[in-house]
Amino acid sequence: MSCTIVVGAQWGDEGKGKIIDILAANVDIIVRYQGGNNAGHTVVIGDEEFILHLIPSGILHRGKLCIIGNGVVIDPAALLSEIEMLRGRGIRVDENLMVSESAHVILPYHKVIDKRRGAEIGTTGRGIGPCYVDKMARCGIRMVDLVNKKCLKRKLTANLKGSTEFDFEKIYRQYIDYGKRMKGRLVNTSLILNRAISKNKRILFEGAQGTLLDVDHGTYPFVTSSSAVAGGALTGTGVGPTRIDRVVGVVKAYTTRVGEGPFPTEFKRGFMEDIRVRGQEFGATTGRPRRCGWFDVVIVKHAVMVNGLSEIAVTKLDVLDEMEKIKICTGYRYKGRIYRDFPADIDVLSYCRPVYEERNGWMQDTTSVERYRDLPGSAKAYLSRLSRLLNIEIGIVSVGSKRRQAFRVR
Ligand code: IMP
Repeated sequence: MSCTIVVGAQWGDEGKGKIIDILAANVDIIVRYQGGNNAGHTVVIGDEEFILHLIPSGILHRGKLCIIGNGVVIDPAALLSEIEMLRGRGIRVDENLMVSESAHVILPYHKVIDKRRGAEIGTTGRGIGPCYVDKMARCGIRMVDLVNKKCLKRKLTANLKGSTEFDFEKIYRQYIDYGKRMKGRLVNTSLILNRAISKNKRILFEGAQGTLLDVDHGTYPFVTSSSAVAGGALTGTGVGPTRIDRVVGVVKAYTTRVGEGPFPTEFKRGFMEDIRVRGQEFGATTGRPRRCGWFDVVIVKHAVMVNGLSEIAVTKLDVLDEMEKIKICTGYRYKGRIYRDFPADIDVLSYCRPVYEERNGWMQDTTSVERYRDLPGSAKAYLSRLSRLLNIEIGIVSVGSKRRQAFRVR
């Protein structure tokens, strides 16, 4: 398989970092295509934990080319400090990291606006939404503008017109400096990717956030401002749909979400705390506690459809090890009607009662299991049931954060 897209099939934080780390071993190029440093991809290698926000997780593998595509929004300070962090930990970041010259830049005013207006949605406050707003309003500043003094001055002057809150000179000088420091990395990444494809190189498209946070297909307006679905990998890199061979959706064995918005299968308080602690469910970017709930087939079925998933990877199965009973949500009950398919109406999602089927847990430690066939019978039955309800094959199962704690199903 030469071109594989990896997407989150829930509300983000599905464990994509780990799955990408596994798949990255067999590819040549890893490319991020949307979002920005609102993402937090955690990879554990030996006893070391790495949390990456902007740079593709593939950077942790030697000899891979990593690309930040045009669909990503970049806070240059965050990118430069991530590069320094990696170098400080002995990871090479030289010509193995390229950045699209067309990617849009997050400026200080984006972060201020986000912090002011993002509370209702519970954004990460990184300026992501306001940066995409400027992109769509056609007044955004792109990476290539940081190495063109005249252009940056013109655009910044227009964007800051009438504002007394921001110091034009300070921002201008700061961003010209960022441009100088990144100049060598700014390239036409679409060209690089398409040339690589024509040479049969293998490419992994690393999605951030998840399908239910997608601006079109998620729980709007409680979403992020980018296309987190597989389609975003195409517009966000300049690679056409005919080039894609496989789309892998990552799901947790249960569900979590950070920030505001409907969450039909959310646990009640006490139970939530247990899972949160067992699963270490605290945001990798903001440290916020994640909301936790049962596996929701309705939302994942939606993700299977809108991403055209070829298979799914199930992570964090071990977090359910001590559950006597495990529930799966197969529909929503709202005003006397049962919904089996994802409803666009936010009221249905907010006020529905989930329809559950309940199963016995396996009550056994799975963290040292290395082959699918060695999983407890009830754990295999749980996975088969999910696979049947979703009508999709499970390709990989993960039972812990370490690289060795994952195996293929067949
Ligand atoms: P924004 O992306 O910062 O605008 O935040 C919009 C919504 O997406 C908020 O509910 C965030 O908590 C959520 N969000 C953004 N990035 C991530 C992520 O990487 N994982 C999980 N939730 C995220």
